[in-house]
Amino acid sequence: MLPAEEKLMTPGIRPLIAGNWKMNGSWRGSRRLADAVRDAAPGLPCDLLVCPPFLHIQPVAATLLGSRVAVGGQDCHHKPHGAHTGDIGAVMLRDAGATHVILGHSERRADHGESNELVARKCEAALAAGLIPLICVGETLAEREAGRATAVVEAQLDGSLPLGFVTSGGIVAYEPVWAIGTGRTPTEEDIAAMHHAMRQALVMAFGPTARTTRLLYGGSVKPSNAEAILALPEVDGALLGGASLVAEDFLAIARAMEAG
Ligand code: 13P
Repeated sequence: MLPAEEKLMTPGIRPLIAGNWKMNGSWRGSRRLADAVRDAAPGLPCDLLVCPPFLHIQPVAATLLGSRVAVGGQDCHHKPHGAHTGDIGAVMLRDAGATHVILGHSERRADHGESNELVARKCEAALAAGLIPLICVGETLAEREAGRATAVVEAQLDGSLPLGFVTSGGIVAYEPVWAIGTGRTPTEEDIAAMHHAMRQALVMAFGPTARTTRLLYGGSVKPSNAEAILALPEVDGALLGGASLVAEDFLAIARAMEAG
């Protein structure tokens, strides 16, 4: 683990611990989870975000109203409204109480064939609706083994982030596809190197303002490895899947931010 002084070299960024609940939970279970997070939030050293399934956004947002915990969607359509059966518009998310939206998650890129170009259009729609986009990038195992991880992630950043992303507070999550839900994580050196490369790419593209863009790590973060990962330079928080479904785990990881 790196010494605390190195962590302090990334100034001006308040860390964020975000939960992607994916397609899990019941209306009642989501409210219970939100209750537990809300009650613990005031003592935590970071900002918190939970992203329930669409149907649970409204009740979760109602539970979290006035708290320090923000609510986000897991996707939105690239058009504001219209004949798009089964889709959800960014303004609808906003209307239901969301302030953020995850876009370009690898599960959407894989399951729904989402390209960088489409992710960028969705991101523009989110920004137009006043939502803060949280864009996911990350390489597959084959790409990492071929030595192409950094090039893939840089191309995703280049293709998925529209103008205005950084000044609107957009967030980036590095989620290696092979680390999601597998219990495997890259080495601390590999995470730090990728976050450094992402920071450089963002500063090149968007200018010095990108020095304060939050860069999250996601992929098999759990209470046992959170402290070491969150202490790495340029890691400004985490995007959690499985661990965000268990209140004690989510909160333990948020507390690890303090130790990190
Ligand atoms: P896990 O934390 O379950 O590996 O999922 C990470 C993720 O995909 C968050 O978006």
